[in-house]
Amino acid sequence: MPDLCGKGKTWNLLITGKPGSGKGTQASLLIQNLNIKHISTGEIFRREMQSDSELGRQVKTLVQKGELVPDPLTNAIVKKALQAKDYPHGFLLDGYPRTKDQAVMLDEMLQELKLKLDGVIQIRASDQTLLSRLAGRRVCTNCQETYHIVSHPPQVEGICDKCQHPLIQRPDDQEAAIKIRLDVYNEKTRPLLEYYQNQGLLWEINGEQDPESVYQEIIKKLGSD
Ligand code: AP5
Ligand code: MG
Ligand code: ZN
Repeated sequence: MPDLCGKGKTWNLLITGKPGSGKGTQASLLIQNLNIKHISTGEIFRREMQSDSELGRQVKTLVQKGELVPDPLTNAIVKKALQAKDYPHGFLLDGYPRTKDQAVMLDEMLQELKLKLDGVIQIRASDQTLLSRLAGRRVCTNCQETYHIVSHPPQVEGICDKCQHPLIQRPDDQEAAIKIRLDVYNEKTRPLLEYYQNQGLLWEINGEQDPESVYQEIIKKLGSD
């Protein structure tokens, strides 16, 4: 296995893909093993909604319906996370950018901070795969750890292995919201693949394998970068 976190090594990465393609699952492996900061806009919004903050109340209807949160709000959250500079080994942006405006804004933020992206990991999976992954997904109400009733069940049904809090289905994992999320992906986010392909940054990963094999494929790409 290549030495990916040797002295002074940093990774500034994006992970993208359709809803349910496995971004969060791979993100938790990557951030642990590369010791990098996880910036998931979806998770940030869910935490804010859970704590019923002003931001949480502002975004709740949109997120639960499967619509995007407006760009200015989302960009401001990412800017704050990047400006914190609390990621000596790098970061992994998960679920951001999702629109052309966000991608342009991210480029500006990185330029300001004198940072560069090392790669964009695209997890590819068919719609049929996504639907069964989303239907079986359960998430912890406390630590947001993700499970799947078939491929990654918790040790005790309905309870998080890590913190023993109850697991729930995400409200946006209902059929109607999934359809909207897929449509939004195809219309707004898919065009970004070309944007990053043109910059020579896109790494296509086969997401139709078990999580460990997907992870190994990503690591191979990192090692050959
Ligand atoms: P976000 O949280 O980013 O949701 P998403 O993109 O729809 O993706 P998911 O989190 O649903 O799926 P995932 O790819 O992480 O898959 P996971 O690893 O969980 O965004 C939610 C909402 O927030 C948006 O709709 C929007 O409203 C708002 N938002 C967020 N970012 C925004 C932005 N930038 N701009 C505007 N609005 C924004 O895996 C899914 C399931 O499959 C799990 O059960 C898992 O255990 C299982 N699984 C994973 N990999 C495998 C595998 N290889 N084999 C078998 N099972 C697997
Ligand atoms: Mg996710
Ligand atoms: Zn938990």
